[in-house]
Amino acid sequence: MLSRRNFLTAAVGVAAAGGLAACAKEDDSSSGSDSSSGGGGKKITLGFAQVGSESGWRTANTKSVKEAAKDAGYTLKFSDAQQKQENQISAIRSYIAQKVNVIAFSPVVVTGWDAVLKEAKTAKIPVILTDRSIETSDDSLYVSFIGSDFIDEGRRAAKMLEKVLEKAGHKGAVKIAQLEGTTGAAPAIERAKGFKEIMDAEHKDDWKVVVSQTGDFTRAGGKQVMAAFLQSNPDINVLYAHNDDMALGAIQSIEAAGKKPGKDILIVSVDGVKDGFVAMSEGKINGIVECNPLLGPQLMELVKKVNDGETVERRIKTKEGDFLQEQAKEALPTRKY
Ligand code: AHR
Repeated sequence: MLSRRNFLTAAVGVAAAGGLAACAKEDDSSSGSDSSSGGGGKKITLGFAQVGSESGWRTANTKSVKEAAKDAGYTLKFSDAQQKQENQISAIRSYIAQKVNVIAFSPVVVTGWDAVLKEAKTAKIPVILTDRSIETSDDSLYVSFIGSDFIDEGRRAAKMLEKVLEKAGHKGAVKIAQLEGTTGAAPAIERAKGFKEIMDAEHKDDWKVVVSQTGDFTRAGGKQVMAAFLQSNPDINVLYAHNDDMALGAIQSIEAAGKKPGKDILIVSVDGVKDGFVAMSEGKINGIVECNPLLGPQLMELVKKVNDGETVERRIKTKEGDFLQEQAKEALPTRKY
């Protein structure tokens, strides 16, 4: 097995060739491309395979990556996988063929990456995971993972629900509808897991997830699935949505059913995008667990270190906060995404 040091040193070896090849193939038409000129010295080419554009969070994340790559003077090859793993695999293969210096990607789902990552390793191109993790039996297939702790976000959502219920003076059974993220994606698996952990440990008798289904992290998905939830379980009194976009879609269905979001159905979600804060300031969402999408600047620093053959931290966690309605109005003007 190649040690990380050797792997990175070898990666530096292909940097010059990769940079030239990338310049010669600047029109990356199948995946879309951005380029930026470096401030002298050897220009780094980064291949970034994005999940898609499913949510406000993702839009902010893409913007952050593109702006930070530009500021760093890297050539960025960017692709949008439209939430399909096969598209991301093709994009990564194309980055390998183009001999980029570093590959970064935010995996749509957790499994099924070993084969393509082995190809990157054989080509001596280091891989950084951003935002979402993977399951692999070979940890040498990526050098670092930068992003949030989704299990902790699930725990924080449950703790936030405790406060929301108390504030609402809620008495009696807590009947929870859960809108899950994309099936098989790290944030969907882990946000459910963290929430359940607290629920099972501290609220076994009074809380129950009565219905749970994926809304694929989209507004349309949240709207559609919530409408079905309300049909099958009209007595739901809490919604836990794995992201703001699904909560926002669900609000439309709750209102269409003649109920008041934030009152008849208490809502806790994850992300903290501007539209989520607007809904919270209007009293329609009761609490939001923040998940920071602005990973670009940290990622570019990491890319530089990896490209220079420096040892990097295996896991870099992002810092984030929790917000209840009383903080929403105050925080809204300064929200960056
Ligand atoms: O992986 C992060 C999650 O993906 C965000 O919470 C969600 O909005 C996005 O689509």
